[in-house]
Amino acid sequence: MIEIDLLVKNVKELVNPASDEVVRGRDLNSIRISRGLWIGSTGEIITFLGFEEEFNKTCVLKSGAAVIDGSGYIALPGLVDPHTHLPFADTRQDEFRQKLQGVSYQEIAAKGGGIKGSVRKTRETGLTELVSQSEWRLNRMLLSGSTTVEAKSGYGLNLEGELKQLEVIKALNSFHPVDLVPTFLGAHEIPEEYTGRNMDFLKFLINEVAPKVRAEGLAEFGDIFCEDGYFSYDESAFYLDELKKNGFKLKVHADEFASNNGAILAVEKEAVSAEHLIEITDEEIEVLSGSDTTAILLPGVSFFLKMSKYAPVRKMIESNAIVALGSDFNPGSSMVSSQLFVFHLGIFKMGLTIEEALNTVTINAAYSIDRAATAGSICLGKKMDLILADVPDYSYLAYHLGINPFKTIIKAGEIVVDNGQLAF
Ligand code: NIG
Ligand code: FE
Repeated sequence: MIEIDLLVKNVKELVNPASDEVVRGRDLNSIRISRGLWIGSTGEIITFLGFEEEFNKTCVLKSGAAVIDGSGYIALPGLVDPHTHLPFADTRQDEFRQKLQGVSYQEIAAKGGGIKGSVRKTRETGLTELVSQSEWRLNRMLLSGSTTVEAKSGYGLNLEGELKQLEVIKALNSFHPVDLVPTFLGAHEIPEEYTGRNMDFLKFLINEVAPKVRAEGLAEFGDIFCEDGYFSYDESAFYLDELKKNGFKLKVHADEFASNNGAILAVEKEAVSAEHLIEITDEEIEVLSGSDTTAILLPGVSFFLKMSKYAPVRKMIESNAIVALGSDFNPGSSMVSSQLFVFHLGIFKMGLTIEEALNTVTINAAYSIDRAATAGSICLGKKMDLILADVPDYSYLAYHLGINPFKTIIKAGEIVVDNGQLAF
């Protein structure tokens, strides 16, 4: 008999992505719906998925097991946010006011603000304070459905600051229920002390920082901001090769404000993802489509910076590229921490169908951070990361804006949000 620690019985409607691995092309427009299912977990893992009769034959509730009546709720997998800059110090509300008056992101950066502003603040802030600011934000992410979240460094840009940010992620991982997937983004900007010396800075990162990050097991992925005014195509190519030699899996910030073939570079270097891609060209889309590199699109940036242009997701889907959506949660270009809101932006601003949007914030997002084996769908053997939403059916999730319908959230078999409130 399977011993069950937590059981959600008789779910009104279970909404699962089209596949438990990855979804591309036309398949993105379908999802799997089942009604009346019982879902059970043992420890962190889903060990039963079926109907009552079979449950009674094969399972037994452990003493003290939690039992939830799912008959009034729809269930969906915990959302996965595959691109965030979570550990940043303070905010940049001053710049935000300037942006509202029409000053551009690039103008602010050119005046020493932007990423550099957050670098100053993050360098000055101690580990404990940074953990507590990040924890508060991570709680907001969880309440809006994210149970697995990628998190990048990149506001340290020196040895101490980069290690500190990655230590923050490690600390949060040790006590917070959300699974964090750490990415080393030391090449996020050229710090003031290296102005005009991009290659020297990249060599410093490779020689002095990356080996320590790996030795201490602080990051799984390495990333670079390949963009005019930051790191060029050639600089990025050099750096990605070196990161790979150091054992990092690769991600690339590409084509955010202008195309410099960053998406092609990501494919050439076998990066797991190319991220942003607002300005991706048709030629790049073709290359991306023939690869397993995921296009992680971040509509929060276009929305937050009040840009009229969004990444051309329809073209990417039609040419069979793998597409995921993320928040890019950061204090400058996307102060958006909710994957539910990103799901809405995908539908309202990028033209995705409800089904496409669901696939992109669940299984494809998990695939893009190498977590498709454990997250992104409700499936035997994966982690019990499940949301119960108080809505009549799944399309209502897309339809009613500005509410938080997530009543109960289960992470790795534990109830972590109960009645819409944190419960751990
Ligand atoms: O993803 N593109 C680079 N980095 C962030 C912005 C970070 C910031 O403004 O602090 C982004 O948009
Ligand atoms: Fe980013």
